[in-house]
Amino acid sequence: MKLNPNPRIVEHEPSSHGGINSIKSKKTGILDYSSNINPLGCHPKVKKYLKKQMDLLSVYPDSDSTELRKNLKWYTKIPEEQIVVGNGATEIIYNFCQAFLNNKTPVLIPIPTFSEYEVAAKLQNCKISFFKTMNLNINIDSFLKKIPKKGCIFVCNPNNPTGVLISRQKMQKIIQTAKKKSTIVFVDECFIELSESKQSIIKDLKKYENLFVLRSLTKSFGLAGIRIGYGLGNKKLITILNNLKIPWNVSGIAQKAASAALCYHNYLDKTSKIILKEKKNLKNSISKIDGFTCYTSDTNFILIKTKIKSNILQKKLLKKKILIRDCNSFRGLNNNFIRIAVKTNKENKKLIKALEAV
Ligand SMILES: Cc1ncc(COP(=O)(O)O)c(C=O)c1O
Repeated sequence: MKLNPNPRIVEHEPSSHGGINSIKSKKTGILDYSSNINPLGCHPKVKKYLKKQMDLLSVYPDSDSTELRKNLKWYTKIPEEQIVVGNGATEIIYNFCQAFLNNKTPVLIPIPTFSEYEVAAKLQNCKISFFKTMNLNINIDSFLKKIPKKGCIFVCNPNNPTGVLISRQKMQKIIQTAKKKSTIVFVDECFIELSESKQSIIKDLKKYENLFVLRSLTKSFGLAGIRIGYGLGNKKLITILNNLKIPWNVSGIAQKAASAALCYHNYLDKTSKIILKEKKNLKNSISKIDGFTCYTSDTNFILIKTKIKSNILQKKLLKKKILIRDCNSFRGLNNNFIRIAVKTNKENKKLIKALEAV
C-alpha cells in the first residue's frame, strides 16, 4: 500500500526532554535532577487516596472533567466555563495551536524556552520568529517592538530553563501591546506555584480577552506520571478547546488525583520553604566550584553555565547515578549549559559532592 502522509507530519520532529525515561542506561537508583518536579513528590495522602480508587480502572472517565473543573474553579477563582483540562499541559499546547494558529499566523517566541511551543506551532505551518534573551524583564522594550499583528506569542513564566519570572506589571505591558495588535498571548505558568513571588497573571483574565494561561499539576503537585494540566481563558476560546479535545482525554484516576492534590494545596507552602532554602544552598556551593556559573532563578530549577561540555558532564554524573539536563537541545543555548532541579538537602549534598569531584 502506498501511504500518502501529510508532508508536515513526516517532517515533524519531536523534541527531547529530561527525565529518567530519557536515558537508555539502567534506571534504578538514579537521582533525577533533569525534571523539575516538587522535591517532596506527590502528597502521601493523595497516594493513599488513589489506592482506594482502583475501581475506576474499568470505568470510562468523565469526558468533561466536571468535578475537577469545579475544584479548579475553587482553587483559581476562575469560572468553570473558562477552564479546559488536559492530559498534561502539553496536550493543551498542541490543541491550542491546532485551534488558533495557521500558516498565516506570525508567532513570536522568546528563547531559550520550553521547546513544545515551537514544535506545536510548526505543525500548523506558522511563521515563527525568535527573540533571544536570558531575562525578558531586561529586554522588555525591544521585545514589545517585535510583537506581530494578528499573531500569537508564547511566554513561559517562570521560564524554563532560565528560571526567570517576569513581573506582573511587565506581563501586563506585553498583553496590552499584543491586544492593540490583535495578538493572543499564551502564558505558560506551569512552574508558578514553585516560584518565589508566585506573581500569576490569572487575575487579569477578566481584563484581557487576548490572554490564555497554561497551568500544570505535574510539577507543583508531583503528578508527572499521571499527566494533568489545565488552561484558562475567555469563554469562547475555552469552548473551542473543550470541543476540540479528544473524548476521555483525562483518565478518571488523573482527575481524582488532581482534585485530591488541590485539597492539600497547603503542601505547596512547605515545598516553597524547602525550595527557597535549598536553592540558596545549591547556588552558593556550586558557584564556588571552578568552571560553574549559576543563573539566578525564581523557581525550582537552576540553569548553570559550565566549562565542561554538557554531554560529557551528563555522562560523568550518570556514572554516579545522577541525571542532569543537558541544555544543548534548547534553541538559543549550547553545550555550555546544564539545568538542575532543586531537590531535598540530602540529595543536593550528593549532587554537590559529585560536581566537586568532576
Ligand atoms: C514550561 C513547561 N510547560 C509545560 C510543560 C509540560 O507539562 P505537563 O507535564 O503538564 O505536560 C513542561 C514540562 O516540562 C514545561 O517545562
